Amino acid sequence: MADQTETLKFDPQGIARAAELLSSGQLVAFPTETVYGLGADARDGDAVARVYAAKGRPSFNPLIAHLADADLARSYVQWSDMAEILATAFWPGPLTLVLPLKPGHGLSTLVTAGLDTVALRVPAHPAARTLLGTFGGPVAAPSANPSGRISPTTAAHVMAGLAGRIAAVLDDGPCDVGLESTIVGLDSATPTLLRAGGLPQEAVEAALGVPLSIVSGADVIAPGQLASHYAPRGRVRLNATSAQAEEVMLGFGPVEGVLNLSRSGDLVEAASHLFDHLHRLDAMERPIAVAPIPDRGLGRAINDRLRRAAAPR
Ligand code: TXA
Ligand code: MG
Repeated sequence: MADQTETLKFDPQGIARAAELLSSGQLVAFPTETVYGLGADARDGDAVARVYAAKGRPSFNPLIAHLADADLARSYVQWSDMAEILATAFWPGPLTLVLPLKPGHGLSTLVTAGLDTVALRVPAHPAARTLLGTFGGPVAAPSANPSGRISPTTAAHVMAGLAGRIAAVLDDGPCDVGLESTIVGLDSATPTLLRAGGLPQEAVEAALGVPLSIVSGADVIAPGQLASHYAPRGRVRLNATSAQAEEVMLGFGPVEGVLNLSRSGDLVEAASHLFDHLHRLDAMERPIAVAPIPDRGLGRAINDRLRRAAAPR
């Protein structure tokens, strides 16, 4: 990762550089109308893993994929009438829609945290729109702050928290809304408010003509609270050095298995493989034994996720 974080301006050169960095798997913070996001190519698992590393996030929760327009959004998900109504009314803008993924979508499983839905948003900020249009692909972006700190609304906030840990920040002044996007779930029969945010609930309900059902007091959904969060069907045993009886082994480093998260012991690589490998082993319909993962850096988020997968259900 970059030792020195470049500050880029919202001009043709700055945009070209930011898009080039994203294309090469690097992290670029950019302004949206809500808060500054920490962007990575949403199709590149290693790049998305670096977002977690840079933020020091202790757990993997699913991220929002940012797109230049609704046409690109439609290419990743099973679109619906409600999605069309909300996208027409509020995109670009501070609204995120959670929709079922299409098969072969090509997004990193670290963006979706292994779920079969994805959160999509088309931001309105001119710098974000220009960057997304130039880059041409989906950009995963949580708020550009270290984990547990306040969301950044200026490039100076971003630098205060992440200088030296990300390749660049695209500086275009303060954000207008200062509050994260409103998240609406459209993956079940009734539309659901998953997070209150920059777009009022009433505006969404007026457009849809139906009330939203509310989840957990409309607060931010903590990763572990997602009832649908992915867990393998079979038993999961952690800190295993070899497989027993029926088990299939998920290896790490020198501890070999049917699949290995990272033979070289690289935690970024391991994070990017985590959900995909768990899905593949789960498909074998046998209990899963997992090699020890060091509890440092991204290893903490990996272990958090593995503990949830192993928890009794
Ligand atoms: O305003 C915003 O939305 C900012 C800017 C940068 O766009 N981004 C942001 O991202 O707030 P983040 O990663 O901090 O928040 C993502 C939220 C989390 O609360 C997560 O649980 C939810 O989106 N989320 C993502 N995918 C989901 C899914 N498939 N189902 C349910 N919730 C999901
Ligand atoms: Mg955040």
